[in-house]
Amino acid sequence: MCGIVGYVGNKENCVRVLIDGLEKLEYRGYDSAGIAFLNNDNIDVVKEKGKIVNLKSKIDLNINSNLGIGHTRWATHGNATKENAHPHKVGAITVVHNGIVENYNELKKDLINKGYVFNSETDTEVVAALIDYIYKKEKDMLKTIQKVKELLTGSYALGIICDDNLDTLYTLKNKSPLIIGVNENENYIASDVPAILDKTRNYIVLEDKDYASIKSDGVKIYHDGKEKDFEVKEFLYDANSVDKQGYEHFMLKEMNEQPEVFKNTTTPYLKNGIDSLIEKMPDFTKYERIRIVACGSATHAGLVGKCMIEKYANVEVMVETASEFRYKKQFLKNDELVIVVSQSGETADTLEALLIAKQNGNDTLGIVNAKGSTIARESKMVLYTEAGQEIAVATTKAYSAQVALLSLIALNLSCKKNLIDKKEMLDILRDVKKLPDYIEELLNRRDEYKKIAEEIKDYNDVFFIGRGVDYALAQEGSLKLKEISYTHSEAYAAGELKHGTISLIEDKTPVIAVITDDDIALKTISNVKEVKSRGANVICITNKNLSNDSNLYDKKIVIPKVNDLFEPLLTVIPLQMIAYELAKLKECSIDKPRNLAKSVTVE
Ligand code: M6R
Repeated sequence: MCGIVGYVGNKENCVRVLIDGLEKLEYRGYDSAGIAFLNNDNIDVVKEKGKIVNLKSKIDLNINSNLGIGHTRWATHGNATKENAHPHKVGAITVVHNGIVENYNELKKDLINKGYVFNSETDTEVVAALIDYIYKKEKDMLKTIQKVKELLTGSYALGIICDDNLDTLYTLKNKSPLIIGVNENENYIASDVPAILDKTRNYIVLEDKDYASIKSDGVKIYHDGKEKDFEVKEFLYDANSVDKQGYEHFMLKEMNEQPEVFKNTTTPYLKNGIDSLIEKMPDFTKYERIRIVACGSATHAGLVGKCMIEKYANVEVMVETASEFRYKKQFLKNDELVIVVSQSGETADTLEALLIAKQNGNDTLGIVNAKGSTIARESKMVLYTEAGQEIAVATTKAYSAQVALLSLIALNLSCKKNLIDKKEMLDILRDVKKLPDYIEELLNRRDEYKKIAEEIKDYNDVFFIGRGVDYALAQEGSLKLKEISYTHSEAYAAGELKHGTISLIEDKTPVIAVITDDDIALKTISNVKEVKSRGANVICITNKNLSNDSNLYDKKIVIPKVNDLFEPLLTVIPLQMIAYELAKLKECSIDKPRNLAKSVTVE
């Protein structure tokens, strides 16, 4: 979580670069922000509670400066206060930090004994003091950073300024992402490329335990005391993706990109029918079973993938939450493929799950959206989702791209194992062509979603039910709703209701029932009748021709019927849109919901 940005150079106004960069990184954390910059031979620190706009109002954007670091915070150690906001300056050293230093308490005690006084509750101020203490002895920043690295445990991406070297920006990173943006006569650091995309597209990815000294005219990267070579990459995303392009929210823009994202994700694999599907994917037939590990919506995409891979390819799939997986007995088998799914490619728990699978000797596949991210680099095989940059904290288009890619894996395996007949394959290829239009048509039915939002806005609890793949989708619908509209909701396997939860159903309790799966629809319909007869206000999302029976439901959203393989990409649209319209009605902060951040780089 947290976003960091830094600048050294002679071309730009540093203060503006820092504020612009923080605004672009605000999706990573937004409970406080701050910058430190060179102003007439001194390092000035300005910080403020709340969003970047509060900080901006406290700063003269025209100050002439050519060195600085900035930070947007998602609190881990200590409340979201101005005192705890970064940067932290101790003695000659000013620091911004993303990550969690696990041994900060021991270090703090030691530093207090050495005479340091702390003004915040953060681990970052401890890091600043530690660097200052060692620097006083070493009088050399590179030697200091090398020593500090040995003393810190946990995750950290650090931007560091030393009062004695006011032409240099220093960095050190471990387990938290950090890139260096390079340009003529100026260089940058950032948690993520979008922060600096309007300045440069060329960047260097730092490896764990790398540290760097960065001046306006050059970058030097070190590892274990030795300078190392590095590769300058080019960022290939469309710069427009970090702009709302006229939409009221990033989330709305990103939902509306789903037709295009579906095309971009599927076309490379299907443009020459089965041939490209086989050619473009690794051979998965050697695995006896598949374990999908992820967090949040990526886990929900994994649950849809499980349904598809089991149904079409007859391979057992287990789906696990990464934060649980990493601390339990994993029982990984040798012939098991571990698939990790992540939009950001930086989620700490998912990354750790991947490393456990690698250590165990399993083959790993990363399904990742952010190109070159840590999970993409660490996975043995990578398939990229082509969703482009996703800014809204609530994932929509990246989730859809994950579902599409997992469905393609199911189809690939099914073809290789000769489990799919020619007719069904032709049906699927025909549907793939129609799907973008169907998605668009569903996105445009905003009046229907608004009406549903109106109906549920005064209720404290909303239930989502479904069976099979519809249960997986219900879980995603429920997460979307609570994440952005702050309305409590739960998703239940429809058959489970009568084992407890149905006691919560009262007159007009909203129940959103997902009914698309042919194999099990009749069973879900009988569960719908059970809640309806207990007074629930039932909204069905279905591709079935349900009779107009008011004893069954109150409202329905009918989605087009396509082959089951890609049907979830249609079903999820009303679920996303209902959450969006409800959040809008309740005037919630849609793109940046409270307490959340886009990249969860702490466990
Ligand atoms: O970047 P990742 O896909 O690894 O993120 C996983 C979850 O944090 C993420 O899907 C989260 O649940 C979303 N905010 C939900 O909309």
